[in-house]
Amino acid sequence: MSEKKPGLEGPQSKAIYASRHLNKTQAVSPPIWQTTTFSADSAEDFAEIAIANRPPEFYTRYGNPNHQMVEETLAALEGGESAMVTSSGMGAIFAAMGGLLSSGDHVVAQKNHYAGATTLLKEFLPRWGIEVAYVDQTVNEEFAAAVRPNTKLIYVETPVNPLMQITDLRFVAELGASRGIVTICDNTFATPINQRPLEFGIDAVVHSATKYIGGHHDVTAGALIGSKDLVDRIWRFAIVAGATLSPFDGWLLLRGLRTLGLRVDRHNSNGMALARFLENHPKVAKVYYPGLENHPQAELAKTQMSGFTGMLSVELKGGYAAADKLISSLKLATRAASLGGFETLVVHPASMWSLQLSRELQQSTGINEGLVRISVGLEDEVDLIRDFDAALHES
Ligand SMILES: Cc1ncc(COP(=O)(O)O)c(C=O)c1O
Repeated sequence: MSEKKPGLEGPQSKAIYASRHLNKTQAVSPPIWQTTTFSADSAEDFAEIAIANRPPEFYTRYGNPNHQMVEETLAALEGGESAMVTSSGMGAIFAAMGGLLSSGDHVVAQKNHYAGATTLLKEFLPRWGIEVAYVDQTVNEEFAAAVRPNTKLIYVETPVNPLMQITDLRFVAELGASRGIVTICDNTFATPINQRPLEFGIDAVVHSATKYIGGHHDVTAGALIGSKDLVDRIWRFAIVAGATLSPFDGWLLLRGLRTLGLRVDRHNSNGMALARFLENHPKVAKVYYPGLENHPQAELAKTQMSGFTGMLSVELKGGYAAADKLISSLKLATRAASLGGFETLVVHPASMWSLQLSRELQQSTGINEGLVRISVGLEDEVDLIRDFDAALHES
């Protein structure tokens, strides 16, 4: 098809056209290169391709045209030079840390992160001789104070899962740049529609593409976006770590990306509407949503985000029992892990992460027993609010 690589302004146009030049067929919806390997015409060609950097047509663990199309689209959306995809968000986070860190290095991370990232930081990095300092992400000075001469990575996530605290991306980027430390941000909750950390000087972004980027609860995937040098370094580790995305999942991701801007606009408006409804409800003690004026970091959020997605958490006055009852009484929203898809999902972090995070750790990170995390879907606002209203009457 078209060889042209158009100059594009808006995220929806990028999502649709940024990778079109890579579709070398006449099919408008690109094919699925469902193959593990690719042929070479001669021994010389084969030798060359085997040592090439990120060959798209050598062996699918190294790359595949379906990967390449998603990577081109994500790089355009995040404003990065290069991108790579993996078979899960944790695959991308693990590849980033494995690719950049060595024994004797030091990492600065947040007290709150997605639970899988916390496990990697707390349980595995120390086993490999890498120390980690944990800071309150809402206090810039804590990041600065935690940096040591051997700090190689500052790892942040904003807004964070599940309490929606915000990290000051400009501050972290400047700190990293001034000390020669790589900075990485998990941008899963915000999406590149609402927040582009690379624009503030963060070196790389990771995603659980399982969430908003896929958007349909049907693909598990991850991504990393940054400068070509950084992505190449991490890719070298990723191909031996082996968290390879299947070509079909790459195709599904690209299909999901086609509507990312539209979906995120709807998640943003539904999230805001539900947050406003819940903050005024007598059974609700607190709503955690960076788009609300009473979020302690609402001003900072506005300086780095243009929308707040559909992720919010709510603390019920009735504690564990009320949280459980609310979830059981919802007729549309479903009790299920994951987030960022078309259907509203709700979880009770205190029970979901009871095996991964000790009770002590949950309390020290502010995860109370009455907390319910909501991933607001794409329903009509009227039905969404009616569902929560009715379930709160029961709880
Ligand atoms: C913020 C965040 N980062 C990373 C991950 C890990 O992603 P995956 O489940 O695709 O490995 C998750 C999963 O829930 C997440 O919420």
